[in-house]
Amino acid sequence: MIVNLIKRSLALHSTYKLVRDFRTVPSSRWSHLAALQDIFKVLPKTMLPMPRLFDLHEAVTTVNAEGIAGAFVECGVWNGGAVGLMGLADRRCPGPERVIHLFDSFEGLPQPTEKDTDVYQGYLDEGHPEESSDALRAIGACRGEGAVTVQTFLTNHVGIPRDQLAFHVGWFQDTVPTAATALGPIAILRLDGDWYESTKVCIENLYDLVVEGGFLVIDDYGTFTGCREAIDAFFKERGEAPDFIHSDDMCVYLRKPRVTYGKSIN
Ligand SMILES: C[S@@+](CC[C@H](N)C(=O)[O-])C[C@H]1O[C@@H](n2cnc3c(N)ncnc32)[C@H](O)[C@@H]1O
Repeated sequence: MIVNLIKRSLALHSTYKLVRDFRTVPSSRWSHLAALQDIFKVLPKTMLPMPRLFDLHEAVTTVNAEGIAGAFVECGVWNGGAVGLMGLADRRCPGPERVIHLFDSFEGLPQPTEKDTDVYQGYLDEGHPEESSDALRAIGACRGEGAVTVQTFLTNHVGIPRDQLAFHVGWFQDTVPTAATALGPIAILRLDGDWYESTKVCIENLYDLVVEGGFLVIDDYGTFTGCREAIDAFFKERGEAPDFIHSDDMCVYLRKPRVTYGKSIN
């Protein structure tokens, strides 16, 4: 009975999101019934709106159809919905064998810093102390259901084999630099960690692992100034000015160009 109640409320929540975002999705997308079916399955477990979910599904389908090898990586997993969607799309249109890496504290966001200009003052005004120490701690925002529940959702509900999932539990600042040395090529890198420092450590350690033809998705580029600054500074330092494609007002992505004989073929 309780299970049925939970299932019914999840379905209601998904239907609400479908209706809410109906007008934001290009009409051509609604005919992608397979994608829609997969999205519906993960909607209650993700904060992503429909346009980003359709684009993510398509990114997986693209790298699989083109046989582009490499892991799927998400930095900022929350309740696992976006990872679940990558797993479902991967099964629907199989490609090279891959591991899906999940990076998250699974305790929610750490403190913002002065670099997060749009939120920092508000954070202090709420009574949080201006901290001198670098020690990260959970501030109670974006706290999800925890790693165990996310794993159960992904294996039991979505059907991703346990050995396809690699959990990196802890602060990105501690987990990402170490994991990056052994991670290997990345086909899709999703950055969804909101803050400047969270984004910076991920882009600096993981971007060079993204293969040619692979995707970099930056969920918060238009949402948080700190995220945007970390990304812009990273590319500026390299003398690059990527042409981001917009999933919507907030989320952008790019596809790393494939270069053959000195010519880009993307
Ligand atoms: C907006 S949520 C991610 C939403 C998720 N991708 C989805 O599909 O709904 C941001 C996540 O980033 C995580 N996060 C942010 N900064 C972090 C850091 N420095 N280390 C570990 N986790 C972090 C938070 O715990 C939170 O789960």
